[in-house]
Amino acid sequence: MDLEQLAALRTPEGSAVLDAAARVAGGDPLTAAAALRSAGVPAGLGAAALTQTELRRRAVGKFGPAAAGMFLTRAGLEQATRGVVAARRAARLHAAGVTRLADLGCGLGADALAAARAGIRVHGVEADPLTAALAAANAEAAGLAEVFTVECGDATAFDLSTVDGVFCDPARRRAGSGRRIFDPNSYSPPWDFVTALAERVPRTVVKVAPGLDHALIPAGAEAEWVSVDGDLVEAALWCGPLAEVPRRATVLKEGPLLNASGRGRAPCYQLTGSGDVEATVGPVRRYLYDPDPAVVRAHLVAELADQLGATIADPSIAYLYADTPTATPFARCLEITDVLAFSLKRLRALLRERGVGRVEILKRGSALEPEKLRRDLRLSGTGAASLVLTRVAGAPTVLVCRPVDG
Ligand SMILES: C[S@@+](CC[C@H](N)C(=O)[O-])C[C@H]1O[C@@H](n2cnc3c(N)ncnc32)[C@H](O)[C@@H]1O
Repeated sequence: MDLEQLAALRTPEGSAVLDAAARVAGGDPLTAAAALRSAGVPAGLGAAALTQTELRRRAVGKFGPAAAGMFLTRAGLEQATRGVVAARRAARLHAAGVTRLADLGCGLGADALAAARAGIRVHGVEADPLTAALAAANAEAAGLAEVFTVECGDATAFDLSTVDGVFCDPARRRAGSGRRIFDPNSYSPPWDFVTALAERVPRTVVKVAPGLDHALIPAGAEAEWVSVDGDLVEAALWCGPLAEVPRRATVLKEGPLLNASGRGRAPCYQLTGSGDVEATVGPVRRYLYDPDPAVVRAHLVAELADQLGATIADPSIAYLYADTPTATPFARCLEITDVLAFSLKRLRALLRERGVGRVEILKRGSALEPEKLRRDLRLSGTGAASLVLTRVAGAPTVLVCRPVDG
């Protein structure tokens, strides 16, 4: 899509074309394009409308029903923050007293829209002209154009004197190729600029890749890792007065999408700590906990072990072991039925004896390839089991488990 097509799609006629595209999309793309053309829609506009329809369909997973009115690009959607994550961040910024927020590199505006919905005035700056125009269109479509304004420009030149909060989600993909950037020095805006923002506006939040090296966390900042339904989705650095603890794991349970208002209210659980405590090492016990990735990445496994009365069995592996099962949002609990020093032959014999035909395979600290192991096991029974490939006191070990309900 280009700026001209976007302008055309935002007129009442364009809106009718989008409606028509939504009706004919979903099957063969050539048939859908032909249907629009035969209704008198110019080919370029029809293609743009069909692309929007497809992107809006994909965006439902991130934004819920609000996706239906949004203007999107493939790259912008990939980089956009999920609705539940943006809403929770916005609520925290609002609670911390931020009233005027600069969103430096606002993309399609997912974070900015959430902040505006939370009652914060947002000024978005976006370097890419089409993306900036799409963000403005999204503000208008959401009825938030009064509180979320967008300018096309370079975030590094933006005058921050009028805001009391800054959010920056630097681009971590190369423009054009879309390839991921792993080195923060290659982010845009650049890492030096991003990490110096808190010196200018203390209430600064920076969204970063969940793989961020802990050594790069600025002194005094809170580093938060966020998961949604068990998937690690992002990390954020909360600076200045926004930093409440050194490390935080935020675990959101989004579940099935219900309705637009339900999206911001996914159950949210938080574990906090210093991030530098080591969990106690002990034996394998009856129950195994597989911690949520946000807990593992935030280095809060020891804090979780404390809550569960659990220990680890190997100093470098984040599985926890306890004598009793405790319901927790921060880990999945499995009951261990067998502990074996790893041997394909013995494992196969045990699973055959139990009639196990289906296995899920978890692993930490094992070089084995789960899919190869699954093939090599040649299972045939009707039962199911969970296999945990790991190390116990340095020795390759397989734990045969069954899930604990709830
Ligand atoms: C990761 S995206 C932001 C996504 C946004 N937070 C959301 O959830 O929709 C980063 C954006 O920053 C923009 N950008 C990169 N460098 C910039 C700069 N120097 N000034 C303004 N925008 C910039 C990119 O064009 C991209 O759209």
